[in-house]
Amino acid sequence: MSRTVYVNGQYLPEEEAKVSIFDRGFLFADGVYEVTSVLGGKLVDFAGHARRLERSLTELDMASPVDMDELLEIHRQLVEKNEIDEGLIYLQITRGAAADRDFAFPPEDTPPTIVLFTQSKPGLADSPAAKTGIKVISIEDQRWGRRDIKTVQLLYPSMGKMMAKAAGADDAWMVEDGFVTEGTSNNAYIVKNGTIITRHLGNEILHGITRAAVLRFAREAQMTVEERPFTIDEAKDADEAFITSASSFVMPVVDMDGQAIGSGAPGPVSARLREIYLDEMRKAAV
Ligand code: PDD
Repeated sequence: MSRTVYVNGQYLPEEEAKVSIFDRGFLFADGVYEVTSVLGGKLVDFAGHARRLERSLTELDMASPVDMDELLEIHRQLVEKNEIDEGLIYLQITRGAAADRDFAFPPEDTPPTIVLFTQSKPGLADSPAAKTGIKVISIEDQRWGRRDIKTVQLLYPSMGKMMAKAAGADDAWMVEDGFVTEGTSNNAYIVKNGTIITRHLGNEILHGITRAAVLRFAREAQMTVEERPFTIDEAKDADEAFITSASSFVMPVVDMDGQAIGSGAPGPVSARLREIYLDEMRKAAV
């Protein structure tokens, strides 16, 4: 069935949706994005994603074609029109299409491009992978230095995913100067002696919306959290490991570079955090 998507003010069948070949998102990866999950037909942490989107736009001096109330309405319309119960909504805003290809930003009155589409994912919350855990490999982090801005420059993460697949794993954790930054499209955590350890916020990682909620819930549940860099050796020696993102929620990691982490099965801390996260976010979804 053809989806209804949103492009520059119009709801259209996906086959009719078009963006210019001069669009700076296409030519320069000059665009930002968000991925928001849908549970029970409602949006998970929309406010968090909207806030981060505004920050990404501001950091790149990019205008938004819609305000955040309109954005919420577009998300809701797409959920309804495409009958999404569980899934994801992808949103992208670019600096628009200039008259020609030019490295300099186009005039300020160039209209930005905005595109949204849905991805139906029945069983997203009850994922089989959450019961078995996933395998990751470590790779060098070769991305640009402003990973706190959620840009559409995703070639290296995409290559990382392919390196993981080639090694028989599910994902890759990236390492810079000896310390783990994050997964290809998720934040990375280890658990040692009951303490949850994850890299502190900075320009080196994306400030995950799921991360913020999970760390809040962990602290509320009296768990100890340390926000600091950790190494791959610490990960291999950890009791548990996991990732968080809007598309995986809290997902256990059971193998690093072919070596079992802890018992080699999902551990109690990640299982508990996944349960709390899904319960609380379902309740707060809009
Ligand atoms: N990725 N780190 C990176 C590099 C990411 O791309 C993502 C999200 C995260 C987790 O952020 P959040 O919890 O706000 O989803 C961390 C999305 C899901 C994607 O690209 O599909």
